[in-house]
This record gives sequence, structure tokens and C-alpha cells, in this order.
Amino acid sequence: MKVIEAYQKEFLKSLKGFELDKAPQSLYEPVNYILSLGGKRLRPVLTLMTCDIFNSDYKDAINAALAVEVFHNFSLIHDDIMDEAPLRRGQETVHKKWNLNTGILSGDAMLILAYQLFEHYDPEVFQSLAKLFSKTALEVCEGQQYDMDFETRDDVTIAEYLQMIEYKTAVLVGAAMKMGAIIANASISDQHGVYEFGKNLGIAFQLQDDYLDAFGDPETFGKQIGGDIIENKKTYLYLKALELADGAQKEELTHLYSLTSNESSVKIDGVKSIFESSGSSEASKAAIELYTSKAFAVLETLSISKANKVALRNFGTALMTRKV
Ligand code: IPE
Ligand code: IPE
Ligand code: MG
Ligand code: MG
Ligand code: MG
Repeated sequence: MKVIEAYQKEFLKSLKGFELDKAPQSLYEPVNYILSLGGKRLRPVLTLMTCDIFNSDYKDAINAALAVEVFHNFSLIHDDIMDEAPLRRGQETVHKKWNLNTGILSGDAMLILAYQLFEHYDPEVFQSLAKLFSKTALEVCEGQQYDMDFETRDDVTIAEYLQMIEYKTAVLVGAAMKMGAIIANASISDQHGVYEFGKNLGIAFQLQDDYLDAFGDPETFGKQIGGDIIENKKTYLYLKALELADGAQKEELTHLYSLTSNESSVKIDGVKSIFESSGSSEASKAAIELYTSKAFAVLETLSISKANKVALRNFGTALMTRKV
């Protein structure tokens, strides 16, 4: 296995080649824009890395890696519309820079472009990849719908929240890895194993995204801090605070979540302070560790070398302490 930067570099080279110089520009310019804004490139790196780990040439997985990243970026354009987010990777979101219709249609085009990338594979591999992709993409939609529905519900449970983040985020991380394993022709049990590893890591990843949404550094996080609070997202932080808080705190928290965005700084500061004083922010960190360790437990069941297990473990540990 190579160092992460080597996969990243190779991926970025291919992404550059993917740049679309086509008409109408108003459709493709936002596609190039979002893809060039940067980001961690976590999912495509995992696709390449997994293919490599199962002893195949990781370059065979480039088109699948591109498909995963294009799909991810499509989901971000539509997610930013749904979340009314002004900032993405420290820059204006597509619907703010252009407009709502542009965000919708350029996003749609990206979903198709992602599918199209699988056409590079032979029929059997193509079928496996497309099948996994369709299942995953539909689950992402389900997760996104739950996320929206939960904004206006006041009886969301932690179990429901965990299911929601599994769908909106974690299954794509699992699928990104499984695609690498499919291309490398890994055994069915290993394909399943890497999927489960990625999925648990993905749950930890979204828990941490929610944590950073409240407590991240605005300079480095690249998104509007407190965006989830403004939108009344029923995150782990919120649900756990309701569980741990005393009567008065609980009342204050539900009151703050009923405020409109006009009073956003009062709302954000007030909510964050309850997240901390109730112990929910600490509980959230513990949950991140729990799901990361679940991923590590699955790792032990894979038929890969000790060195590769260590490398995947280090990758997971690095994610757990990320700030962006
Ligand atoms: C953002 O994903 C959306 C979530 C699932 C939390 P990333 O945090 O991977 O975003 P980029 O691609 O690195 O910007
Ligand atoms: C994003 O969840 C999940 C998908 C894009 C499918 P968030 O709404 O938390 O992602 P960010 O915080 O905007 O990146
Ligand atoms: Mg969002
Ligand atoms: Mg969202
Ligand atoms: Mg978020």
C-alpha cells in the first residue's frame, strides 16, 4: 500500500482530465466549480486504496473513484440547497453563486455523469458496480429525506438519528471501499467486510461532522458554523443533550430550537453552551470513538496483510481527529 498522498495525487490528476469544456457552459461551469473547490477526497482515496489492498492495480479503480467523488459532489450541491447553506469548502455554494435552478440541473447532470463513468468497466464488473451504486444512491436519498423530516419532528430518537446518518453518509463510504474490492475481484466475504468497515467509519465521520458543525474552527472548517443549529437539525449533540439535561436546560434548549434564524447568534451560542454543560459534547466524542472502534473490530476479520490492517487503522484514527 502507498501513502495517502500518492492516491490523492493520482486521483487529482484524473479529476483534472475530467474537467468539462462543453456547452452549455451554464450547465457545466458549476460542475467544474464544485469539483475544483477541493475537499478531502476521502471517498475516492478509499476506493483506490481498497483496490490496492486486495492486490490489484489501483489505477483500475480510477473511474469508480471518479464516479464516487462526482456523486458525492452532486449530493453536496443539492444538500446545500436543502440546508440553505451559504458556504462550501470556504467558498460560495453553487446555488448562492449562481441560482437555485442551476444548482438543481448541474446537480442532476453530475448524477448522470457519475453513472456514465462505470461504462469504462467490463459487463460483469459494470453490473456489480452499477447495482451497488443504485442501491447506495437511493439510500442516500432516503437518509436526506429523514434528515429533512427530522427538522420539524420533536420525537426523534437516537436510534433514528443513527439510521439516518448511516443512510445519508455512511453507506457511501462503505460503497466507495466495496467498489475497490469488486474491481480487485476480492472474495464476497472481504467485499462485505470492507463495506462494514467503511460504513462504521462513515457513521463516526458524520457524528464528527455534526460535532464540528457546532464546535469547529470557522477558519478551517469551510462551512457556516452553527448551520445545523440554525436549521434545527436533530443531531446526536441535540438528542443527547435532551437526554442528559435537567428540566430547566431542557426547556431552554427546546425554546432555542424554536427560534427563527433572525436571532441566529443568540440561538447558536445558547445551544452550544447547553451542548457543553449537559455533557452531550463529551458523549458525542465518545460515540465517535465507539463507531471508529466498531470499524476496527471488522478490520480484524479481513483477509489482508497485517501491514494493510495497520494502514487502514491509521487512516481511521486520523479521521477521528480531523478538524476539516
Ligand atoms: C461532507 O463530506 C458531507 C458529509 C457527509 C459530512 P466531506 O466532509 O467528505 O466533504 P469534502 O468532500 O471533504 O469537502
Ligand atoms: C450531508 O450531511 C450528507 C449528504 C450530502 C448526503 P450534512 O448536511 O451534514 O453535510 P454538510 O455538513 O452540509 O457537509
Ligand atoms: Mg448540509
Ligand atoms: Mg444536510
Ligand atoms: Mg454537516
